[in-house]
Parts: sequence; C-alpha cells; structure tokens
Amino acid sequence: MSGQKRILLIIGGGIAAYKALELIRLCKKANIAVTPILTRAGEQFVTPLSVAGLAGEKTYTHLFDLTDEAEMGHIQLSRVADLVVVAPATADLMAKMATGQADDLATTALLATDTPVLIAPAMNVRMWEHPATQRNLTTLTGDGVLVCGPEEGDMACGEYGPGRMSEAADIFAAIEKFYAGDNHPPQPTTPTRQTGPLSGRKVLITAGPTHEPIDPVRYIANRSSGKQGYALAEAAIALGAEVALVSGPVGLPIPQGVELINIETARDMLKAVQGELPCDMAIFCAAVADWRTEDNAQQKMKKDGSGQPPALKLAENPDILKSVGHLKNHRPALVVGFAAETENVIENARKKLIAKNADIIIANDVSDEGGVMGGRDNTVHLVGPDNVEHWEKMPKQDVAVRLMDRFSDMLAKSS
Ligand code: C5P
Repeated sequence: MSGQKRILLIIGGGIAAYKALELIRLCKKANIAVTPILTRAGEQFVTPLSVAGLAGEKTYTHLFDLTDEAEMGHIQLSRVADLVVVAPATADLMAKMATGQADDLATTALLATDTPVLIAPAMNVRMWEHPATQRNLTTLTGDGVLVCGPEEGDMACGEYGPGRMSEAADIFAAIEKFYAGDNHPPQPTTPTRQTGPLSGRKVLITAGPTHEPIDPVRYIANRSSGKQGYALAEAAIALGAEVALVSGPVGLPIPQGVELINIETARDMLKAVQGELPCDMAIFCAAVADWRTEDNAQQKMKKDGSGQPPALKLAENPDILKSVGHLKNHRPALVVGFAAETENVIENARKKLIAKNADIIIANDVSDEGGVMGGRDNTVHLVGPDNVEHWEKMPKQDVAVRLMDRFSDMLAKSS
C-alpha cells in the first residue's frame, strides 16, 4: 500500500451512529483519511455537518447528486479507499449487501466496490438472532466481508443480548489489523483447538427445539431458544473438547470450532446423534417434541367449510436421551439430561434420571414467571443419584461454564 491510507465510512441508520463520530476521530488521529457516506436513515441520528466537520471532508449522502456525479461518480467513490467500513451495519444494510441490492448511494458504492469491506453490525437482539440475518451474515462472511462485533449487553431498546455495535476503539483496532495484514482480508481459518481438561475428548450436545411437520407449511414446536446448549458448546470448546452440536432450528451464531449438524425433527435428531457416537460425554439439552403427527399431510391442509376442524393424530417421538442412556455398547462415559419442568421440578427430574439412565439431570423451572425459555438467565438444580444441588440464578453463559467444569470433573473420575 502506498500513499495516504483512506477508508470509505458508510454510516447506517442506528442509534449506534454516534460511535461512528468517535471512529472518525480515531482514524484521523492515526492519519487515516475518511471519506464519509451517510445513509438517509443515518441522517436521522447524526448530521452531515458533524460528520464532515470531524472528517474534514465532504459527507456524501445522495445518489443523484449531479455535482458529485460530475466530480466523482459513485463507482469511483467506492474505490477511493483501501477499506470500506460500514458502521453501524443495520439489519437492512446487511440484507441489501447479501442480496446485491443497490438503491441508494451507500448500497450502490458497496456493490460497485472492489476493495475489502468491514462491517460493524448493530441491531436489536431478535433482529440479530433472526435466521434471515444469520443467513445474510453467513453469505457476507463467505464473500470475504470482515465482521467486527456485535457485542452482547443491554440495548437501547431495553432488551439484553448480542446486537450492540462494537465500541469505536474496537472497530478502529479491526481497521488497524486490516492495515497490518497487508491489505488482504484474513482467510477463514480453522481455529486451533484449545488445550484443557477436555483435550482429546469428544462431547456431543443436542440443543434447541425440534419442529414436527403437520403439513408443508405448519409444524409443532416449542419455545426453546437453544441458548443454553450453544453456551455449553462454547464452554466445552474452551476446555479443549472436540464438540458435535446437533441443533434444531434456532437463530444463534455458530460457536467457533464446533461441528454443527442442523436437524428439524426428533427422528432426524436421533439419527444425527447416532452418527456422532461413540463419544466421551453426551449432553441432551434439546427440547425435543414428545409427539409428532402420525401422518403429516403432503399438501397444505385446508378448511373444508364444514366448520369441523381436522383432528391431529399424534405419535410418540423416540426418546433420544433414553436410547443413549441405555446403550449396551458405546454408552458415553457421561450422559447428561436436562429437565424443563413447570411443577415438582426435583421429583420429576429424579424420575427422569432413573427412567433414562442418565448420570445427572440438570433441572430447571420453565413456568412463565421464570422466563427461562428464550431468556438470558437460568436457575438450575443438579440432580444426581444421591444428592441435589441448587444453584443461584445466573446468565446461561455462566451456568454453561460452571456446568462444563463439573461435567469435566465427573468424566475424569468415571474413566
Ligand atoms: O422432555 P423431557 O422432559 O423428557 O426431557 C428430558 C431430557 O430428555 C432432556 O435432556 C431432553 O433433551 C431429552 N429428551 C430426548 N428425546 C426426547 C425427549 C427428551 O433426548 N424425545
């Protein structure tokens, strides 16, 4: 790279747009020139004047600004920089980038550019976790787009979770890393496995709900978010394990380093689990639907005008934990079940421990007041053959880290 370093900064419309101002300041301090583009939505949060003031350059806003077209076409504008930075990258901007839409100056520049792109996503947690956004993220990273954040925390909208835009200093660090990396976006690398107490051990985890089809467009499901199971997968990776995560449909980012097997139905989950045996530890965190429809309709079911709703005939799904717990050969050395209960939590967990031949059941109360299903926190009780331990309420990530430490100790003692 020669001459003056320059980024093209696209500021999208989000409450985090104010952080873009600090980012400009940091870049200028480091002698990196900034050409700013402000989207129409971005203008609702910061003004072209304050952006231009900090950048010391004109802020570009509209596609059909004839003067700009004469001075510098949008194609050229997209290529003045070494790196295009999109901050905040809203769900809408990510969707447009992933599908190649170009209906304003920012998206046109993004489509026309041949320079590397770094995005700093910022949006509501549900929008971030939505399968559509996650699909777009996968497309964009596959296209070589660099991603910084988002962070997890309290959001402006009052919710908690991933979706907050990274701080300006962190985005700036990603820009510096780009320049240090000789102008090439880093190629996706296989993360090196951590060393730890689970090094050389294979851990199988089921997570999320299952979807049982009724007809081609309808299904039976439950409120499981998959968060606890995904957090366990991350914690197991951190302890050095090889992790296979068999997951029902959820909108969560894939934990780095896991082998993810996506399934929809309980029967598919059973097959996937069998395909991952033998393993050292199996953790059944999924909320498997107990029943499926006996025959799911091949065509969308219709009202027949008689006023009589159709009767759904249900069949019982295989119990995956039970089948693995009772294996004669290849039973994992440690089999862990979860029990989501709305009443008699401990008593029901004990019954499951015996019926499913698990080594330990992690029981939790999912009655409405607890807000466990889909929520951030979990209150768990560890139910073993001879004892019960009650843990205080804590974030699911903390539950996962502490549980994984415990499981790792149990595994070490059992084998
Ligand atoms: O649904 P239930 O309360 O019986 O779930 C208890 C445990 O059994 C959980 O660990 C769940 O993942 C597992 N399970 C399973 N297959 C089923 C039902 C439950 O693996 N069909």
